[in-house]
Amino acid sequence: MMKRVIWLLSGLNRRMMKLLFALALIAYIACKSIQEHAEMNIEQRIDEMFITKEICLLSPSFSQKYPPVKFLSEKDRKRILITGGAGFVGSHLTDKLMMDGHEVTVVDNFFTGRKRNVEHWIGHENFELINHDVVEPLYIEVDQIYHLASPASPPNYMYNPIKTLKTNTIGTLNMLGLAKRVGARLLLASTSEVYGDPEVHPQNEEYWGHVNPIGPRACYDEGKRVAETMCYAYMKQEGVEVRVARIFNTFGSRMHMNDGRVVSNFILQALQGEPLTVYGTGSQTRAFQYVSDLVNGLVLLMNSNISSPVNLGNPEEHTILEFARLIKSLVVSRSQIQFLPEAQDDPQRRRPDIRKAKMMLGWEPVVPLEEGLNKTIQYFSRELEHQANNQYIPKPKAARMKKGRPRHN
Ligand SMILES: NC(=O)c1ccc[n+]([C@@H]2O[C@H](COP(=O)([O-])OP(=O)(O)OC[C@H]3O[C@@H](n4cnc5c(N)ncnc54)[C@H](O)[C@@H]3O)[C@@H](O)[C@H]2O)c1
Ligand SMILES: *[C@@H]1O[C@H](CO)[C@@H](O)[C@H](O)[C@H]1NC(C)=O
Ligand SMILES: *[C@@H]1O[C@H](CO)[C@@H](O)[C@H](O)[C@H]1NC(C)=O
Repeated sequence: MMKRVIWLLSGLNRRMMKLLFALALIAYIACKSIQEHAEMNIEQRIDEMFITKEICLLSPSFSQKYPPVKFLSEKDRKRILITGGAGFVGSHLTDKLMMDGHEVTVVDNFFTGRKRNVEHWIGHENFELINHDVVEPLYIEVDQIYHLASPASPPNYMYNPIKTLKTNTIGTLNMLGLAKRVGARLLLASTSEVYGDPEVHPQNEEYWGHVNPIGPRACYDEGKRVAETMCYAYMKQEGVEVRVARIFNTFGSRMHMNDGRVVSNFILQALQGEPLTVYGTGSQTRAFQYVSDLVNGLVLLMNSNISSPVNLGNPEEHTILEFARLIKSLVVSRSQIQFLPEAQDDPQRRRPDIRKAKMMLGWEPVVPLEEGLNKTIQYFSRELEHQANNQYIPKPKAARMKKGRPRHN
């Protein structure tokens, strides 16, 4: 009996020994390979990671996730804050700075901006989107600030004039305070509206403007004027580097469809087969720049050494009637052109003097009107399609717009 037990145990032991030996061998091999891996330096491992990443990028499902961006060295790569970056101009600026390889943080309260305008960057390692109102202070580390946050078209800035004032005053103070604290350079998106109802044509940067401080547009015009004042106070008193762009009428994809401006009105009317409404004879002129021209100008100005205000706009004037005919033909629309009584207070001309930008930045608009219009028409028609697919077709708010004076903006 005893012998049997011993024999069994030793048999078991022999089997156990074999098992233990096998386990030890496996453990040894595993350890050895881990050790070897650890001995590979970190750089090599990151390189390896990039190679696998690149392989992933070669397959279409990955490469289509983000548009390809440039790779900048640490010296050239900047941390850039764009306030109002989910808006029309801001989102195009975001695209350019991302493609150029910078780290972009968009701050927006989505008053008139949309997440959709920047959705193609969400999740990208160089991109950050913060839902924040610039009227509240913000603490982040950045090298440059493009300060665009502000409603921009009359229906939007007149919707809540007090908020428009707060955004342009307190919001600008907050951003200048941030610039001072972190030593960043700030570019203010100012406007041609600082010239008000101008008495000189075309307007150059020396002109002080002609603004009614208590008129319906004052919340915006005076808000931007005092925002400029703040920039120069911070520059003189605190040494903050500032750039001021006085932006003239701009159009392009992602612009607001129902903002009552002449280009968006005509495109919408033409696409929907409604009459294109021209106030007066249609001989008033307007000048519009395409958004990509503006964005190039903003980036050039930011990186220049010009701290005084610079006009950015397209001096090429067209009559309202020319716009109507051109848009009608590009849309291939059966719409009629309808003439309505002249609107009072409708400025006859508005045109930028861009000699300063030409001379000091080497900048001028290059996108032909027709090309810009085609792209904008494409965007509008896709938007209308989306709306139709959702069974939701909001009409332009005609009743609301009529309350104010109808005018071509
Ligand atoms: N589009 C033009 O023709 C034009 C002309 C002159 C000046 N500008 C200036 O350019 C800038 C951008 O204009 P846009 O046409 O892109 O208008 P937009 O309305 O599309 O963009 C403005 C953005 O600012 C955001 N915003 C508004 N208030 C904010 C707040 N308190 N905090 C955070 N975000 C806020 C909005 O949500 C929006 O995304 C504005 O400062 C505007 O005054 C534009
Ligand atoms: C700006 O830079 C240019 C050359 O880069 C120089 O000639 C010019 O003097 C500078 N201007 C100011 C105001 O510093
Ligand atoms: C714009 O579109 C029209 C028709 O849709 C086309 O004939 C024209 O060549 C386009 N122009 C430009 C500059 O792209």
